[in-house]
Amino acid sequence: MNIKATLMASAVILSPVAALAADLTIGFSQIGSESGWRAAETTVTKQEAEKRGITLKFADAQQKQENQIKAIRSFIAQGVDAILIAPVVATGWDEVLEEAQDAEIPVVLLDRTVDAPDDLYLTAVTSDLVHEGKVAGEWLVSEMGDSDCRIVELQGTTGSSPAIDRKTGFEQGIDGHANLEIVRSQTGDFTRSQGKVVMESFLKAEGGDSICALYAHNDDMAVGAIQAIKEAGLKPGEDIKIVAIDAVPDAHLAIAQGEMNATIELTPNMAGPALDALEAYLADGTLPPKWIQTESKLFTASDDNQSIYEMKKDLGY
Ligand code: AHR
Repeated sequence: MNIKATLMASAVILSPVAALAADLTIGFSQIGSESGWRAAETTVTKQEAEKRGITLKFADAQQKQENQIKAIRSFIAQGVDAILIAPVVATGWDEVLEEAQDAEIPVVLLDRTVDAPDDLYLTAVTSDLVHEGKVAGEWLVSEMGDSDCRIVELQGTTGSSPAIDRKTGFEQGIDGHANLEIVRSQTGDFTRSQGKVVMESFLKAEGGDSICALYAHNDDMAVGAIQAIKEAGLKPGEDIKIVAIDAVPDAHLAIAQGEMNATIELTPNMAGPALDALEAYLADGTLPPKWIQTESKLFTASDDNQSIYEMKKDLGY
């Protein structure tokens, strides 16, 4: 299998084949466009809908939960057949999910989880967010051996499930290794610009020489931080090891250039399995599992990152 075929085949662990349902109208409440990964997810979702002849009503919430709730209410009022939600934060969804349930409109969560009873949505298509953080932590453990390492952490959006779970997972990954210590941890809101600003503040507060590694909850923040590290006269990937999550093209490029060390892949194709599940459910009531888990693959300098970068660019990621 070539790299492109492998990437596409490994995109999801479970992807039920469903019959095409004609004339479906589906509302998609997207968080915004904070990261390269998010933009890729939007692109792939639109492509998947078009491929299946589904009319997709798209609403960009500009990072605000209140905008998402408004959009979902509008989808309900329009009588859509189903709703996709990428929830910006984990809490505060019960009421609007109950409204969708009362209107008998199935809801599928994309890429993030919510703190709400699971009978309020049909299924959630997400990675194992804790596992991703754990893989990052374990990678750093194996990289550092017995050497002391002072780590700085760039967290995702406060209150979002990936920020909460990726932090927990990383702490599990380094647990029991007293030589590894998280000395600073702050949100960079999943954006490149905040990743840079917060990394600058870490470098100022700690002094560049005393920081051994950066763990960023997504690649965009890592890419912003790389800029800050360079501007501080240090070599990212060498003076400061960098591990992050998403495996967007720019992260593969940074690894190929020796400026980043590892990333854990999050497929932007959440819509494929989500629409498979919805089409089957709307066709004959087939119930999907409550969690459709996507794969989390670690990429390091031992992979052919230049080729993967080019491949993913071609796929529109
Ligand atoms: O919910 C997935 C996360 O949201 C991605 O890792 C991050 O890049 C995005 O903004």
